[in-house]
Amino acid sequence: MQPDDPEPKTAHYFSDKPATPSKPRRVDIALPDLSLRLGSDSGVFSADRLDPGTKLLLLEAPPLVDTDRSVLDLGCGWGAIACVAATRAPWAQVWAVDINERARTLTAANARSLGFEGRVHVHAPHEITDTTRFDRILSNPPIRVGKQALHDMLTHWLGHLSPQGVAHLVVQKHLGSDSLASWLERRGHQVERISSRAGYRILEVTNPLDESRPS
Ligand SMILES: C[S@@+](CC[C@H](N)C(=O)[O-])C[C@H]1O[C@@H](n2cnc3c(N)ncnc32)[C@H](O)[C@@H]1O
Repeated sequence: MQPDDPEPKTAHYFSDKPATPSKPRRVDIALPDLSLRLGSDSGVFSADRLDPGTKLLLLEAPPLVDTDRSVLDLGCGWGAIACVAATRAPWAQVWAVDINERARTLTAANARSLGFEGRVHVHAPHEITDTTRFDRILSNPPIRVGKQALHDMLTHWLGHLSPQGVAHLVVQKHLGSDSLASWLERRGHQVERISSRAGYRILEVTNPLDESRPS
């Protein structure tokens, strides 16, 4: 992680309520196993295209399996990960959280357009109960919120992994994927760097072996 995270060059995509006027648009997701056309808007992350890091995550994270009953798209943006996960894993309940209200509205509308109403649950972070557990977390996390905010967010949500749960995070190398991996390891998590391509790493994060370890 860089010590001083740069300010994003675009407007803050992680605002609760983006000030940028709405300008709806469509974005295509083209993957070997599926194609989706979803709605996007200004004021959300990667509004005009599927982010290349997100695409890599969707291509290279291990497939969802039938034990992945509950899947979290952490920081869902317009909902690419949630919608792909719900398409690929019809047995799963998919949760999508984001602080950005416009992002949540887009994700809910996209899920509805695909017929996933009732199976894709879109919420503000504080609406998820402490007892909710996820078998898989898939995330392109908001590195640019700053190191402390990112660490707080990951500490919180990794605490929602089920005992055998696994998180897959895509992080740009130049934005600190390796130092993030080291920090997670220092927290006791097991971290595998399962892919490294085109300037990104995909980190596979599992629960600390010793849950009683101090945090
Ligand atoms: C890098 S973007 C990824 C968006 C989307 N998943 C994608 O791949 O296109 C990170 C997202 O995290 C959201 N975010 C920022 N802080 C958050 C927090 N504390 N809790 C949940 N989401 C947050 C941002 O609003 C943003 O939509």
